[in-house]
Amino acid sequence: MAVRALWYRDGTLFLIDQRKLPGRSVVLRLRRLAPVAEAIRTLTVRGAPAIGVAAAYGMVLARAEGRLGPDAAAEVLRRTRPTAYDLFVGIETVRSAWAAGEDVEAAADAYRERVVEECHRIGTAGAPLFAKAHRVLTHCNAGALATVEWGTALAPIRVARSRGAHLFVWVDETRPLLQGARLTAWELARERIPHAVIADNAAGHYLRTGAVDAVIVGADRIARNGDFANKIGTYEKAVVAHENGVPFYVAAPWSTFDARRPTGRSIPVEERDESEVLALAGRRVAPAASHARNPAFDVTPARYVTAFVTPDGVLRPSEIARAIPRRTAA
Ligand code: MRU
Repeated sequence: MAVRALWYRDGTLFLIDQRKLPGRSVVLRLRRLAPVAEAIRTLTVRGAPAIGVAAAYGMVLARAEGRLGPDAAAEVLRRTRPTAYDLFVGIETVRSAWAAGEDVEAAADAYRERVVEECHRIGTAGAPLFAKAHRVLTHCNAGALATVEWGTALAPIRVARSRGAHLFVWVDETRPLLQGARLTAWELARERIPHAVIADNAAGHYLRTGAVDAVIVGADRIARNGDFANKIGTYEKAVVAHENGVPFYVAAPWSTFDARRPTGRSIPVEERDESEVLALAGRRVAPAASHARNPAFDVTPARYVTAFVTPDGVLRPSEIARAIPRRTAA
């Protein structure tokens, strides 16, 4: 069984501390809004669907604390990370229930269940794509850690494997924070799914030499025309896959689709601290006088996407705008 990234019980949000994996398995217990916001900002919990669910429970804790009203509490959480649309959907789901005097814990629970259930449906919808395409490349971590359970990109891989497909996963290490090498590899190793971690700049080599049958990634925000933001480096992989005729799939629940954004041009791209690039595993590698730039995401144009794997099936980019359900707006 895949791991569960977070859960809520009796006024406490339990989170696996993803900064410590794979070396140590530490579960944090959070009871107030501020530590939840800090956990999202520091990537203690990360991945678009998972931060949406964590933020939903952050709103529940804020309501119990009683220091802030729904709008102020929502603002604290909105300021943590700008790119993942799910964050804003999770916050808004509970903010509106709170403002309407409804049961906020029930709203957060229902939101979490919807995300988990949609990820499972992504797995079922996407699994046939991998019945013959056995060598799959993925970038960052779009597994259970990033989504609470199942994953987005990893869900079809899990389901295809449970149906007997012999899959092999190329895992981009995903500099600077190594979500691939640390987290995706950890999830695959736990379930004994064959894989190899590769340096980010090795992906082009394997795509060109015929060692990859398909690429699948998650997303942080998808515009109506199918342009999408995902972990920095995704754009390069999509272009190289296209150049080599390798199908490129993007898997996401409906909470990642931003119906009000016509194209990817205006998607906000988070820029993180330069220290994440200047150091490797906490040790400075660049000269003391050097500075760095650290965009956490890039935006890939829809023309590089073969199909989106959604909870409601595999859709071409041109089909997205009409398929986005109304209820997902933030
Ligand atoms: O900065 P992170 O680790 O939160 O970035 C996560 C990603 O880019 C994932 O690929 C994305 O959120 C999809 S997760 C199912």
